[in-house]
Amino acid sequence: MLDIDALRDKFPVTRSKVFLNHAAYSPLPQPVFDAMKQYNADLCRFEIDESTYSFGKESFANLIHCREDEIALVPNTSTGLNIIANVLTYPPGSNVVTTDLEYPSVVYPWLKKALGVNIRYVKNVDGQVSIDGFMEAVDDETVLIAVSHVEYVNGFKHDLRQLSEIAHNHDALLAVDAIQSLGVIPIDVQNEGVDFLTASCYKWLLGPAGAGYLYVRRDLVKDLDPPFIGWASVKPEVFDTIDFWEIRHLDLSETASRYEIGCPSFISYAGADVALRLLLDVGIPRIYAKILSLTKQLMDSLEDLGFSITTPRPSSHRSGIVHFLIDEAQKKAERLKRQGIIVSARSNGIRVAPHFYNTEEEVRRFVETLAKV
Ligand SMILES: Cc1ncc(COP(=O)(O)O)c(C=O)c1O
Repeated sequence: MLDIDALRDKFPVTRSKVFLNHAAYSPLPQPVFDAMKQYNADLCRFEIDESTYSFGKESFANLIHCREDEIALVPNTSTGLNIIANVLTYPPGSNVVTTDLEYPSVVYPWLKKALGVNIRYVKNVDGQVSIDGFMEAVDDETVLIAVSHVEYVNGFKHDLRQLSEIAHNHDALLAVDAIQSLGVIPIDVQNEGVDFLTASCYKWLLGPAGAGYLYVRRDLVKDLDPPFIGWASVKPEVFDTIDFWEIRHLDLSETASRYEIGCPSFISYAGADVALRLLLDVGIPRIYAKILSLTKQLMDSLEDLGFSITTPRPSSHRSGIVHFLIDEAQKKAERLKRQGIIVSARSNGIRVAPHFYNTEEEVRRFVETLAKV
């Protein structure tokens, strides 16, 4: 196990800024930058040694506890969600259950008229979405529950195991957008009964944009035809005999790679794999413990200053996100930025999102500066 404090050295951003915005777009750790630079340097000379580069499927599979062949490469979360929406079929009168706290990409794919499915929004009460709400909304006409594991504004964390039980009791499936939780919160898709999961790497996974993953439970793959098909969708044997591409017959891959279409962003995955391995080496349970301690400190201090916090307090629903209400949020976020403190203005407030390499001292500095601006 690695020493968390020693790892701060690997984050060049810490030398000039207090970066508390991992729910938006994260700065690259030095080893991730180095790997991408090396890739480009090798490419310039055309000396790429393919055996030294990985697309990170193995690391991602380790992160969510599944098999490598249950993972497809996707450029981002929204693509993953669109694939999920379009591999399923929706009988007349069927529904998809989600919440009224979702990021647009978690809902828009199912609003496409051609799918012909009704959407049911479980309403939040004071920023929390109850299991009873899901139990009322899901019925035998439900095809899917689609949620973000962690909601993007207030950081409310759903209990995936409870959601999958509700879905499966009605022969429905569970799809999870994990972009706001992976890299922070341990996930075991098998134990928690998750059927689909997707995430980009550019937030909490500390990788570059352009690299993302889609998990599809193995026994679902063969029955779910890909909505888009290209050279990458077929069995490896087909392109192993590359001198002769069979184009009169489609031999789809029997693994999740059937959802891949064409050339992935090699440079992005060169960085993503290093980022995923860095997080796995630190250990996600340790990362989560550190982040929960920083967010508790943050919420306690904000409460002392009299701010209204919209992030639910129960630890079972907490994540890396803390949101509180403030007037002129955009202006205040900009003033904080001028002081070298990076946060986001969201929903009439400020969203703060520390990662494991942030310190108590940085959280204190944020709170003190906020009190002045
Ligand atoms: C919950 C959630 N899902 C999806 C996205 C967008 O993901 P991507 O850009 O990978 O499609 C965001 C970005 O903020 C998000 O917060």
